[in-house]
Amino acid sequence: MTAQHAKAAAAHAVCSEIESGMTLGLGTGSTAAIAIEALGVRIQQEGLQIRGVATSFAAERLARAAGITLVDLEVAPRLDLAFDGADEVDPSLNLIKGRGAAQTREKIVANAADRFIVLIDESKQVARLGQQMPVPVEVVPMAVGPVSNLLRSCGAEPNLRMGAKKDGPVVTDQGLWIIDATFESGIEDADTVAQKITHEPGVLEHGLFIGLATEVLVGKLDGTVSRQLRPVP
Ligand code: 5RP
Repeated sequence: MTAQHAKAAAAHAVCSEIESGMTLGLGTGSTAAIAIEALGVRIQQEGLQIRGVATSFAAERLARAAGITLVDLEVAPRLDLAFDGADEVDPSLNLIKGRGAAQTREKIVANAADRFIVLIDESKQVARLGQQMPVPVEVVPMAVGPVSNLLRSCGAEPNLRMGAKKDGPVVTDQGLWIIDATFESGIEDADTVAQKITHEPGVLEHGLFIGLATEVLVGKLDGTVSRQLRPVP
């Protein structure tokens, strides 16, 4: 069994909870993709009737191929449930998301959902956010300098994310750029850092998801899945 099998176990677990009539938030990334494809199988085999709001162009294309009816948040401002992957999850179910540069739409969709279910394998669990992955910050291009300074003042090393099969910066689905903020030994107070980044002019959104996840499904290498519920404050 590989990490991919563990992710698949979590993805199939959320798929089995979906009922006809639901409107869903459809996440981005390899784990969410498995869940979207599995929903496509249920649509084919059982006639499952669902609608979905996509968190990225990538999720939109997958959903269309799976036969999921796509709607937007103007048509469906509240969602029954949203599912998505994550890059890190801490013990309070706070997250880092955005390896796929989709954190802005992912956060909008998560915030619109009655239940936001996060799908991970065990490698994503950390004691403190920022230990393994940088925090992506989506910025208006002219704000790269000042936002980078703000991130340095928060203890991070900022790096403009560059394209892989494209020269120059990664351009998001919103047409903006991403600064990856690396925190050498994790983030001491993620809530405070999140608020500082949010309030900086030129920042559209960032990948710290504080208090948004209601549940986390952790797929294990043995194929089992455990469920964590957000601690009551
Ligand atoms: C995309 C994301 C993804 O959900 C996150 O990177 C996890 O991806 P994967 O399921 O491929 O590990 O935040 O912006």
